[in-house]
Amino acid sequence: MELIRSLDEVRRFSHQARGQGRSLGLVPTMGALHEGHLSLVRKARSEYDSVVVSIFVNPTQFGPREDLGRYPRDLQRDLGLLTPFKIDAVFAPDARAMYPSGFDTFVDPGAAAQPLEGALRPGHFRGVATVVLKLLNLVQPSTAYFGQKDFQQAMVIRRLIEDFNLEVRLVLCPIVRQPDGLAMSSRNAYLSTDERVAALALFRALRRGEAAFCCGETRTEAIVDEMKRAIAAEPRLQLDYAVVAEAQTLAPAAVATAGSVALVAARVGSTRLLDNLILAPPGTNDADRLRQVEIRNS
Ligand code: PAJ
Repeated sequence: MELIRSLDEVRRFSHQARGQGRSLGLVPTMGALHEGHLSLVRKARSEYDSVVVSIFVNPTQFGPREDLGRYPRDLQRDLGLLTPFKIDAVFAPDARAMYPSGFDTFVDPGAAAQPLEGALRPGHFRGVATVVLKLLNLVQPSTAYFGQKDFQQAMVIRRLIEDFNLEVRLVLCPIVRQPDGLAMSSRNAYLSTDERVAALALFRALRRGEAAFCCGETRTEAIVDEMKRAIAAEPRLQLDYAVVAEAQTLAPAAVATAGSVALVAARVGSTRLLDNLILAPPGTNDADRLRQVEIRNS
């Protein structure tokens, strides 16, 4: 496994791979790797002999009062976690290489980037779309792997790929959870024991919403009320939003149907947590839920 730090080197690597007829899978990350990230690496390895994982804490997607400074960084640990996967390369540039002085062009994502995270974190998806476009251009993968955990991000990137005619396939992978249901996240490292208990209410809220849907409720307000009640029952949580949205646009769904997405975001202490669930009839597995979204998107 090669550790590549410079942009020239990653370009050379990618030209060489394609020259040898090898296509690449790319897993973009900000490091502090956990099972969620590793599930993407596993999926990429199952589809490609050559896989690149990027590790870059992208400053342009953090707001001025956000956690860029304290975001967990441990490259040696991340490299150790990646070793068993026998990937080709880790691309870990530094911020000056990605954004040299004079850097002045950003991607301006549209409707899917406006609500929810976009409304609460102005400029966030502009930073995400810009860095993802740069990573795709540098590595030139055939496929890039993203997690459903950041559902809105995946939809913004889907549009980016479509609208800029990028020759890359996007693969979405299901949310990996702790046994008690908490969605894995690098930011879970910030949680105290008490806060971690409170954080479980996010997934509880999604399941309550889905239970209502499965009992035949299609009015989104009624489903959202169920979700909000579950969050309100946990006083340490401050709700940012609870919605049932259309998968493609993230606009509020008029009525809930299979393939609509329930999304929640809440703060506990100084930590923001996100979670979501693609609504489906009882017994539907994660892969089939994602397929539902893909069918709607095609
Ligand atoms: P990061 O938060 O490190 O996440 C990298 C990828 O891992 C994202 O596609 C995310 O959705 C996925 N992921 C995180 N937690 C997951 C979980 N519990 N289950 C499944 N997948 C999970 O997302 C980013 O970095 C950045 O915005 C990035 C796309 C790298 C651009 O800077």
